[in-house]
Amino acid sequence: MKARWLRSNTGALAATIERMAAGDSFYIATPIFYVNDVPHIGHAYTEVAADVLARWHRQRGEDTWLLTGTDEHGQKILRTAVANDTSPQAWADKLVENSWKPLLETIDIRNDDFIRTTEERHETAVATFLQKLYDDGHIYSGEYEGYYCVGCEEYKQLDDLITTEDGDYSGQLVCAVHGRPVELLKEKNYFFRMSAFEKPLLDLYESNPNFVQPPSVRNEIIQFVKQGLADLSISRSSFDWGVKVPWDHSHVVYVWFDALLNYISAIGYGVDDEQFERRWPAVQLVGKDIARFHAVIWPAMLMAAGLEVPRAVFGHGWLLVGGEKMSKSKLTGIAPNQITDTFGSDAFRYYFLSAITFGQDGSFSWEDLSARYQAELANGFGNLASRVTAMVTRYFDGEIPAAGALTHADELIYTTAKRVTEEAGIAIDAFAIHDALATIWQLVDALNGYITDQEPWALAKDDANRERLETVLATAVHGLGTLAVLLSPVLPKATERLWKAIGGLGPIEAQRIDLAWEWIGGPRVSPLDTSLFPRIEVEETV
Ligand code: MSP
Repeated sequence: MKARWLRSNTGALAATIERMAAGDSFYIATPIFYVNDVPHIGHAYTEVAADVLARWHRQRGEDTWLLTGTDEHGQKILRTAVANDTSPQAWADKLVENSWKPLLETIDIRNDDFIRTTEERHETAVATFLQKLYDDGHIYSGEYEGYYCVGCEEYKQLDDLITTEDGDYSGQLVCAVHGRPVELLKEKNYFFRMSAFEKPLLDLYESNPNFVQPPSVRNEIIQFVKQGLADLSISRSSFDWGVKVPWDHSHVVYVWFDALLNYISAIGYGVDDEQFERRWPAVQLVGKDIARFHAVIWPAMLMAAGLEVPRAVFGHGWLLVGGEKMSKSKLTGIAPNQITDTFGSDAFRYYFLSAITFGQDGSFSWEDLSARYQAELANGFGNLASRVTAMVTRYFDGEIPAAGALTHADELIYTTAKRVTEEAGIAIDAFAIHDALATIWQLVDALNGYITDQEPWALAKDDANRERLETVLATAVHGLGTLAVLLSPVLPKATERLWKAIGGLGPIEAQRIDLAWEWIGGPRVSPLDTSLFPRIEVEETV
């Protein structure tokens, strides 16, 4: 038994070393969040998805890096600070320390770095980048006249605006996203020659169909660029909360131009070539509302600077409330800890990633969350873990038995474990996190069915069935081990407990996920003192 166990783990180690030596690098970044307000579950959704992908790749032995952070410049933050009688820096410091960094704890994000756009490392990189574009002729001075939405921090075309009939802004031109009036700007600005990148961008979308995903977002981006790209105003001179344009200190850099550069400033652009080479290019996860910035402006900026474009830009859907995007400005934001305080961070992570097809919009409801918690986590997975560990304790005094001759039913568990391991990995590579979870759940269901059919409690009544009982429980523990490893990116806390309970060695997050099916059991189990997902009374939550 021990020899087999060691063999499988030595195999995993060898594969890890091989992957590291091959230099597989996986750098994933979330958007950086505006600090004008506190986080809601829509923001937490982007974070959790990126964290699950990062954890998965890390457990494949890839050289993984997860970056997140905060977007602190621009008029939106400046106005919020002024409205709160404070300076933008003091406001940002307070929000970052009291709200945004604590969010990462609340939902169990294991990020490798946190970048703030007010940090010196970032501001220096922005200046270096801009100066290079200026020196290379990609920037010119001109006059901007047009509409601006401070909520979006974006220049708007007439198509993006609507005239409202009702409410406070009746008869005015308002932004279709925020429902607030836009402002007419007339300023001397610096412009980035983005129009020059129209053809290279269309070639990029054509030659690399996976550059923008999913297809709905890709099509929208292609249509947008095909309509023709204008040059982009990249500086503002009417306020000073931003990075100064290096050759003209009377201007600050446009907040999106500044913010997009976080993805490279955080990995040493211009100062640490080794780190930059090791990480870049990144996989970028963004909400579909900001896909244009990431799939049009950002690659154009990178092309101008002679840098590689991101590996992929994936635009996920929105969490909806009453059919509309959840947002603080519409007072529909739900704070993540409203959910985690009752259900825990694992359930939060699992719920949003399993209930919503990644890439599509999804509605949140307390009823759906409660029902899935109970059916899938408490009854499906948690109960399976409790039953199997309790039976090994009871019938074998905690020592995990070795499997004897396998029947068809036993073999099916081993082959299902292998199949779901492989299929879940393929789904993750396609950003289909919900599919990966549904696939893994086939093993949860298969194991529950197996236990019901094999009736180990009945086998235990007769010593003549001892060998069969050994095989059934060894097979069940094997399945649990596979589940613990496969689910660890999504349910890090529960799977760590399960891993310890079934005698897994070392931290669960060090286990190879692509070899999850190889694990055949530690020496001993120790029963779970409380269920992985305790019962929650619905009344408490609504
Ligand atoms: N600061 C910019 C991003 C700059 S990246 C260089 C920004 N910040 S944000 O705080 O408004 O939004 C951050 C992320 O949260 C975006 O990906 C956005 O799509 C996501 N979400 C905000 N509300 C959301 C929902 N209701 N549902 C899902 N995601 C949502 O944009």
